[in-house]
Amino acid sequence: MADHPTSALFSSLTVKGTTFKNRIVISPMCTYSAEEGLASDWHMIHLSQFAMGGAAAVFTEAAAVEPRGKITHGDLGIWSADHAKALKPVTAAIAKYGALPAIQLAHAGRKASMQRPWHGNGAMDKNDAARGEMPWDIVAPSPEPLRDGWLMPSELTVGEIIAIEDQFALAAGHALDAGFEVLEIHSAHGYLSHTFLSPTSNQRNDAYGGDRAGRMRFPLETAEKVRAVWPDDKPLFVRISSVDTDGVTEGWQLEDSVVLASELKARGVDVIDCSSSGISGPATAAQGKTSLGYRTAYTSRIGSEADITTMVVGLVIHAEHAEAIVDEGQADLVAIGREALFDPYWARHAAHKLGADPKFADWPEQYGWWLVRREPLVSEYREA
Ligand SMILES: Cc1cc2nc3c(=O)[nH]c(=O)nc-3n(C[C@H](O)[C@H](O)[C@H](O)COP(=O)(O)O)c2cc1C
Repeated sequence: MADHPTSALFSSLTVKGTTFKNRIVISPMCTYSAEEGLASDWHMIHLSQFAMGGAAAVFTEAAAVEPRGKITHGDLGIWSADHAKALKPVTAAIAKYGALPAIQLAHAGRKASMQRPWHGNGAMDKNDAARGEMPWDIVAPSPEPLRDGWLMPSELTVGEIIAIEDQFALAAGHALDAGFEVLEIHSAHGYLSHTFLSPTSNQRNDAYGGDRAGRMRFPLETAEKVRAVWPDDKPLFVRISSVDTDGVTEGWQLEDSVVLASELKARGVDVIDCSSSGISGPATAAQGKTSLGYRTAYTSRIGSEADITTMVVGLVIHAEHAEAIVDEGQADLVAIGREALFDPYWARHAAHKLGADPKFADWPEQYGWWLVRREPLVSEYREA
């Protein structure tokens, strides 16, 4: 198992031809700060700090594969060569500071055209119009709005569905040109792909709806098309909502996720990123009470039953907990989200706590040289 002498979390993992130096991945997190989908200095500094902070891979936020698929006006995009060009300094900085640059490709479907969280996190209204931000037409498998008061999506025709699948493949090509080493398809959180999967949002009775096989058609065809473009030696992840938990009793279930994961694996997907929820509301922002690492059981079951590499995400905040998850084989990778916003150096601090880097040898020498000499002076004052 571990190639690190003391820590499973700090052992490496090779997926296809790509090596993760440890098991810590920065989870995709929207910052809603792009203009027309283009990355800027913000994205470079924001993301490269996590590379400097010791994570093995750093995901961009969801990057829309077409303008219609943005969640908000501020979303990142990857639908043109200009978008790839704007992301090149970002991937260069992440790689320079020691992490694998990773990108999440997304289409927001019926959750497109909404407010940034700090503008209300709801359907756009007159306050957005006053800022010059107007809603745009949105699409979904079925003409079902997210909730009352939200935009009505128009139902995609089969030709339009295939065109969006092709947009994912084109976006994968742009991501490659931009220098990304890891790619993830977003199929979770109530966005387009998840709304195909869940019977609560997919009322189609053609080849893209109906039974589970029909509802899985869009994500599976998308994965196939992306894999055809994305090089064989580079890992392909798919993030899924392992189960519809948010008040939906007849939704997508864990056993469905096991089948989906197996089918994705058969199409060349390497890693299932096991999230949950979001079909009828926010996946993260408004969740009720959850416990630390609450998706670990889902992840463990999907990994063992579909026999596929997994990543767990959701309230993993303690180094020792992440260590136990990997050591016990419950997940192969651990995604850190908000805790990395709190502490972009989470991975280096975890290594220190777990004794995986006692001499600060993996730190940039500009810091490590000082910290190893300071350690004897401060260690007795540290909290247990
Ligand atoms: C600010 C913010 C933005 C997010 N944006 C995305 C996103 O773009 N794509 C995605 O799959 N999940 C997104 N998420 C969910 C996170 O990736 C992660 O799954 C979630 O925050 C739970 O993990 P945590 O408890 O470690 O934060 C976002 C979460 C936050 C807090």
